[in-house]
Amino acid sequence: MDNQQLQGLVEQMTLEEKIAQLLQLTAHFHEGTDNKGQVTGPMEEMGITEGVVTASGSILGLSGAQAVIDVQQAYLSKSRLGIPLLFMADVIHGFKTIFPIPLAIGCSWDMELAEKSAEIAAKESAVSGIHVTFAPMVDLVRDPRWGRVMETTGEDPYLNSLFARAFVRGYQGDNLKENPDRLAACVKHFAAYGAPEGGRDYNTVNMSERNLREQYLPAYKAALDEGCEMVMTSFNTVDGIPATGNEKLTRGILRDEWGFDGVVISDWASIREMIAHGAAEDDCEAAYRAIRAGVDIEMMTPCYVNQLPKLIESGRVDEALIDEAVLRILRLKDKLGLFENPLRAADPEREREVVFCEEHRNVSHELASKSSVLLKNNGILPLGPDANVALIGPFAQSNDILGWWSCVGAKEDAVQLGTSLQERLSGGKLAISEGCGIDSISQEQIHAALETARSADVIVLALGEESAMSGEGGSRTNIRLPEAQLELVKQLKTLGKPLAAVIFNGRPLDLHGIFEEADAVLEAWFPGSEGGAAIADILVGRVNPSARLTMSFPQSVGQVPVYYNHYNTGRPMNPQKTEERYVSKYIDSPNDPLLPFGFGLSYTTFEYSDLTISGHEMKAEEQLTVQVKVTNTGSREGVETVQLYIRDVAGEVVRPMRELKGFEKLLLAPGETGTATFTITEELLRYHHSDLSFTSDPGTFQVFVGSNSRDTLEQSFKLV
Ligand code: IFM
Repeated sequence: MDNQQLQGLVEQMTLEEKIAQLLQLTAHFHEGTDNKGQVTGPMEEMGITEGVVTASGSILGLSGAQAVIDVQQAYLSKSRLGIPLLFMADVIHGFKTIFPIPLAIGCSWDMELAEKSAEIAAKESAVSGIHVTFAPMVDLVRDPRWGRVMETTGEDPYLNSLFARAFVRGYQGDNLKENPDRLAACVKHFAAYGAPEGGRDYNTVNMSERNLREQYLPAYKAALDEGCEMVMTSFNTVDGIPATGNEKLTRGILRDEWGFDGVVISDWASIREMIAHGAAEDDCEAAYRAIRAGVDIEMMTPCYVNQLPKLIESGRVDEALIDEAVLRILRLKDKLGLFENPLRAADPEREREVVFCEEHRNVSHELASKSSVLLKNNGILPLGPDANVALIGPFAQSNDILGWWSCVGAKEDAVQLGTSLQERLSGGKLAISEGCGIDSISQEQIHAALETARSADVIVLALGEESAMSGEGGSRTNIRLPEAQLELVKQLKTLGKPLAAVIFNGRPLDLHGIFEEADAVLEAWFPGSEGGAAIADILVGRVNPSARLTMSFPQSVGQVPVYYNHYNTGRPMNPQKTEERYVSKYIDSPNDPLLPFGFGLSYTTFEYSDLTISGHEMKAEEQLTVQVKVTNTGSREGVETVQLYIRDVAGEVVRPMRELKGFEKLLLAPGETGTATFTITEELLRYHHSDLSFTSDPGTFQVFVGSNSRDTLEQSFKLV
């Protein structure tokens, strides 16, 4: 349909029909389903009539081709104008084939594979009846206490923006109408949901507009530049105003400045939550603020349906605002091809063929093996094929490796580490013991673990957080592994045997009690459906690890937030004079994180040399070429992620110590030397000034190239 036809449809709608389009409900309101959707907020009595339910425009959290077909057909049979329902769901890191959590995908630094994972998630969801996914979540985060850290790709605006684009491309493809196996994407949570005070979920966000624009907004913008169809507002306040009623954010920046004309949806109940925030006295004020801010769909509270009619009647809200919102929703339905084919790709037969098929699981396997980060290795990994191994810990045979937001993924389908390791140690031996629970340990468990380990040559510990310890509502103040697991490490350490720890979890942890004690540490994250197989491949050396951290690992929770692109302060600590008192430091901890952004080891080693820059002065219209040689100095083939960072030495506004501006992956055979090449343009040097203008300043810039944000070679140039 063209815009005029859609407009014509809006004109035929009654006010009630229009407002009902603005309401999103979970499926259990609809006949024939008992599915309650992914309930992530208090379910209160909704206070709506059956008529409203029958006319509401979209459904959250229902999938299964036949169920969707039934609901859509029943709905359409009652729809006066034949406007189909939209089905939306949280397809975050896979539908039934579960990929590693997004934080892990981030560590792959692999945009193609990230895109592929989204394409597969879209296909599985689409044949199961879904039209829109509430993804990608692109909230930048610097605080590992926040439970939803598992859902982001990390702490860097540049990298997060690349991933945002990759995910949108993967979900949406080029043309949603012509390709019903794709989904419309909904970028979230606008804005700055990843910066809650104290890392406590839903908490206040307080930051300058400059910081917001520089660090937090780029990834949302990148998703929209890639054509993302929808935006979800966030639960938090931004500068004292809840994001869901924040005119400056959603009308000002999103619509007027960035020109976004797609659908904006509230997060679950976040319109009504303006009352608890203290930004609205009642549902009526909440509805008023949200509709004026440009929020089109209200998720799971009835402020719009019950209050907008009164607001229009009293003249406080212009009906034109409702018409605009409805038009945007109908346009999305049209882009998805729902007017021609309301069942779209929903097809029980294809669903059986496509969902969780081998091809999809293979991609999940590959992504998991490229997402697990080797944090330490004194040479005990990889295990030899004849190794005599004791695999001990609560994750030795656990299926809880999918992570939070694993949609319809079933834990029972997850490949366990123990099973996979057994298959791969052809000539060796594997004995398994649970050792302890996630947060409990008994004398019997310790005894059994010690017995199992005594006859082994090497101990592999499988430790971690259970998936509910991160994710929405999963914030923690203590980011160490539970005491019971640290006790297990201590006990096994007494045997004096080589010890490798594999950690399954959803956030950067304080690794005290593990990092020093273990000879090797592999960060597996929640690796998804094929996780056990992928981790076993790395342990036995079938795969050479190549992932790099996209969040710093703190020394302790007291350092949080600790991130690589920080400022210098006026009294930076001199690393050679750490005893100086009146400098910016802790008296009980180093300033630097335990492991920096960009860090990750391989089973081979790389040496950097000959960092060159094509000139030491550059005019704005010119560009410089930066090159570095990287040699594989080890004995096996490996992938190195060569990282380029820049520091603007003096700005009108102080600039970060370094900012990631590019990276290149080199696959190098033993002894081989490769060259990574980067181009520096004036555009790369721009930043938000105090008046919010986005320009560069002439002056000196340092250029750093290396294997992570800490270990780099350096050059400099001047912008003249
Ligand atoms: O999409 C989610 C959001 O990220 C958190 N609240 C609930 C929404 C719908 O399930």
